[in-house]
Amino acid sequence: MAIKLRAVRNEDFAALHALDQACFAPGIAWSKAELLYFLKYPGNVAILAEDAGVPVGFAIAGTQRRQGKLLGRLITIDVDAARRRRGVGEALLKAAEERLREAGATTVLLEVAVDNSAAQAFYERHGFTRTGRIPGYYLGRIDALVMEKEAGEAL
Ligand SMILES: CC(C)(COP(=O)(O)OP(=O)(O)OC[C@H]1O[C@@H](n2cnc3c(N)ncnc32)[C@H](O)[C@@H]1OP(=O)(O)O)[C@@H](O)C(=O)NCCC(=O)NCCS
Repeated sequence: MAIKLRAVRNEDFAALHALDQACFAPGIAWSKAELLYFLKYPGNVAILAEDAGVPVGFAIAGTQRRQGKLLGRLITIDVDAARRRRGVGEALLKAAEERLREAGATTVLLEVAVDNSAAQAFYERHGFTRTGRIPGYYLGRIDALVMEKEAGEAL
């Protein structure tokens, strides 16, 4: 697999929506309106991973202010189930972190469902640690773990 990364373009929308629907359970996967919102939110970056021109994953990240510091937020990383465990997620995460660092973020934060052990293992491997828990974050009944990585940890 020869993965190429590039910025998401408008014409990628259907492929991104299909990937997201396949990656997450009904109700957690984004509607088209939600996906469009995150893609177009001012300052957000969206990166596509392609294998021989076929979209196989994407990442969306952005920034917000927290106590005077610029906080990077990893909004999602979605990888086609048939292409997992081959470094696509890692390539997307590194590219997103690079963009957040360029934007001036000193910390990156994300939320992940408590029952999503694969994503937790993925983020732990990449230096994120658990810093909180949000009750009922998904569907009002599944808690989210908050995971963060400081700039000092190779961000
Ligand atoms: C989480 C996700 C993005 C990882 O993408 P990926 O392309 O498989 O990631 P990589 O191949 O770069 O994995 C790197 C490492 O992460 C860890 N990891 C990834 N998936 C894992 C799993 N299912 N179980 C345990 N560890 C896992 C491993 O350490 C892995 O290295 P290894 O394969 O050498 O053991 C992917 O599983 C996914 O899209 N899941 C569904 C959507 C999702 O939950 N996104 C996160 C939302 S917060």
